This record gives sequence, C-alpha cells and structure tokens, in this order.
Amino acid sequence: MFLSSRSLSAMLHLSSVITFLIFYILRAPLVAAGVPSNYPKSVRTVFQFDNGTWVENIAIRSNGNILVTLIDRPELFQIDPFHNTARLLTNLEEEADALSLLGIAELAPDVFVFVAGNFSISRGASDPASYSVWQIDFNRGGRCEKITGIERLPEASFLNGMTVLNHKEGLVLISDSVQGLVWRLNRWTGKYDAVLGDDTMRPAEGVPLVLGITGLTSLEDHLYYASALKGLFCRVLIDTSTGSALGPYEIIAVDVPGDDFTMSLDGAAFVTETGENSLE
Ligand SMILES: *[C@@H]1O[C@H](CO)[C@@H](O)[C@H](O)[C@H]1NC(C)=O
Ligand SMILES: *[C@@H]1O[C@H](CO)[C@@H](O)[C@H](O)[C@H]1NC(C)=O
Repeated sequence: MFLSSRSLSAMLHLSSVITFLIFYILRAPLVAAGVPSNYPKSVRTVFQFDNGTWVENIAIRSNGNILVTLIDRPELFQIDPFHNTARLLTNLEEEADALSLLGIAELAPDVFVFVAGNFSISRGASDPASYSVWQIDFNRGGRCEKITGIERLPEASFLNGMTVLNHKEGLVLISDSVQGLVWRLNRWTGKYDAVLGDDTMRPAEGVPLVLGITGLTSLEDHLYYASALKGLFCRVLIDTSTGSALGPYEIIAVDVPGDDFTMSLDGAAFVTETGENSLE
C-alpha cells in the first residue's frame, strides 16, 4: 500500500472509490514518464466497490478469478471477471482482531497466503504487533485458517506486500514498511526472521507518514521492490532457497512512487502508483 506524502489527503479522497481494472494489453510498453501516446484503450472496469472501499492487493487464481484484499476492512473478495461479480470469501475482524488485509500470494496451487493486521486509514498508521498470516485453500472448499505455528508476528511493525520465495519449502517474503526490511516466513513451521534490509527499504525521513518498502516480487534469482516515498524501484540478487542477499541492493529507477506491482516473465514491471492514480 502506498500513501504519497505530498498528496496524502488528496489520495485518501481519491482512493475512497477504488475502481477495479483489468488490463487487456499484457505487454504494454515501458514508459519513462507521463502518459504514453499509445496509452492502452482496452481498459475496462471489471467490478466497482462501494465508495469508501480500498482495494489493497490482488492475486489471480488459475481459473481466472481474482482475489482481492481490502485494507479499510479485513475482507477478502473473489471477483469473477467473466461475469463482473464479487463474492465475499471471509471477514477476519473477529478471528484476526484486525482492521485490514494486505499482501497476498499463491504459495501452492490454489493455496493463497495473506496478511491481516491493523492499518488505520484515518490515523495513517499501522499498529505494531497486530499482524498475523492466514491461508485460504481452494482445494479444501476455500477453507480459511491462520497458518500453523504462530499466533502473531509481534516483532513486525507493518506487514505490507507479500511474494513467494520458494514454493517447495513453503517460504514467503513479506515487506515491513515501517522497519524497512523483509521478513521470511515458513508456512509449515510458522518460523520467521528478518532476511533482507537496506537503506533503500527504510522509510523516507522528514515526512509524516512512516512508509518505506511497499510492494515486492521475486522473479528468478532477484527480489524486486518499490520504496514509495523515496520513489525507488530496486532489486537485489538473492539465494532462492534462503532469501539471503547474494549481491548489492541496486536502484533500477528513481521517481517511481510505486506501491504493489507485478512482473512479466521477460522482466517488465507493472507498478501501481496509488497517489497518482497511474500504472507505470
Ligand atoms: C465518496 O465519499 C466521499 C465522502 O463521503 C465524498 O466526498 C465523495 O464525493 C464520494 N465520491 C463519489 C464518487 O461518490
Ligand atoms: C486493532 O484495532 C482494533 C480496532 O481499533 C483494536 O480493537 C485491536 O485491539 C487492535 N489490535 C492490535 C493488536 O493492536
């Protein structure tokens, strides 16, 4: 999730209505700045939530349905883009004692892991030690449960984006936007520890909102990540079985107020810029 320092209030207003979009052009050209002349024309609204809804993160099921987490309330929805409908799968307010759901990733076929915790939109702040990690298993009728082994991650301050590190080992990486680091979590044992950290991930200084690393995506042997308020898009070479850094933290692009993003297999990143209402 991302809040632009210079347009925090404008953004909160803008994001009060989130329109959910699907891009039909999969290989949109990379554009350095501004609106491209070949701006995709074939964008359509798949589903629109009520005013006040903040869609935070998405994952696509192999059947084409879209899972979305909401940050303004702890709800997971499934959107059917073929019929333009949405179905509430779960609300974790009671079970997780949480206000929000955040990062989500597919760890095994049709098994999705996601973050629950407290990010208060009105306060613009996260409650440390409020975070837990859940899974929903569509092979078992969409059964939703906390991952085994841990109740919460008391050391975490703001769990935000999530990506799979290693499917076989059941490992995910989760960004911590306040501490400016990346946690590694084992779905089977519940064991977790901080595995990556760098100045590029730490929150920007001199702005009221404490927000460093936001979205992250692993692709082949690199972890890519965005650091919204610093405007950085970066990567680091990692060991794909442990997540440890094997090379320097590299800045790939600057002036990218990026939040969550996805990547094509040939290495193009599609970065959402919430405060700007844009996709870069
Ligand atoms: C959404 O709600 C806010 C706050 O009530 C209001 O100011 C805004 O105009 C609404 N937006 C739309 C598109 O209805
Ligand atoms: C999360 O926020 C809710 C509502 O404000 C509160 O009841 C709950 O105690 C908070 N949880 C933590 C762990 O701070």
